[in-house]
Amino acid sequence: FRRPMVAGNWKMNGSAALAQELFKKFASKLQNDSAEVVLCPPSIYLESVRQLLEANKEALDGSLVRMGAQNLSQHDFGAYTGEVSGQMLKDCGCRYVIIGHSERRRMYGETSNIVAEKFAAAQKHGLTPILCVGESGPAREARRTFEVIAEELDIVIQKNGTMAFDNAIIAYEPLWAVGTGKSATPEQAQEVHAFIRKRLSEVSPFIGENIRILYGGSVTPSNAADLFAQPDVDGGLIGGASLNSTEFLSLCTIAM
Ligand code: 13P
Repeated sequence: FRRPMVAGNWKMNGSAALAQELFKKFASKLQNDSAEVVLCPPSIYLESVRQLLEANKEALDGSLVRMGAQNLSQHDFGAYTGEVSGQMLKDCGCRYVIIGHSERRRMYGETSNIVAEKFAAAQKHGLTPILCVGESGPAREARRTFEVIAEELDIVIQKNGTMAFDNAIIAYEPLWAVGTGKSATPEQAQEVHAFIRKRLSEVSPFIGENIRILYGGSVTPSNAADLFAQPDVDGGLIGGASLNSTEFLSLCTIAM
């Protein structure tokens, strides 16, 4: 059994007020057999979300609401102005951290090597990495989707060993679907998710069977049911729709 997960990546959006609004909805509407819900606010709001988790423990009544960060430094500590370490995120109550989001790879020069180092740093500090992989539009048109994804997975395995994905989540986020309003079709998503699972099964059948693979890219309440119903899609990594508490709650319900 792979418990479905719905993770909200706020990116550089939202506020402490949005966190409060979400918790108000969760407290009354989330069922404790629902999907695992992960909030990934900007790091400046992690402490507010941590306090809300604490304050709403009883109201949430066993539902799985957890917190993740959007990025971390590959270094443990030191002269890295503006960076946040895995230990700091752990101290702040994070369980998860998004690694290798396409926005970080493209806009902040995160190479596959850096991504693999960040993956290791997350696990070292007891955080579960949510590793984002995905092909660009031109790569898909050139039928290079599987090649790109295999490369992105293999470098993490090479650097972190065959058990790297024993405690990790993967998010398939095709770049052409992120923030475009044009989601992958359920068939396109399923095809790539099955490929990822098969690739990891070759390394470890146990990991292949148990790892959760999320789909991300223009997921909304109107397309989520078909996407989440695919056999190898275990939930979603949600951008835009995670900023609307009604839509986000509805996605959490659809995932179960
Ligand atoms: P959108 O849901 O806004 O397309 O963003 C997806 C994403 O990048 C989540 O990490």
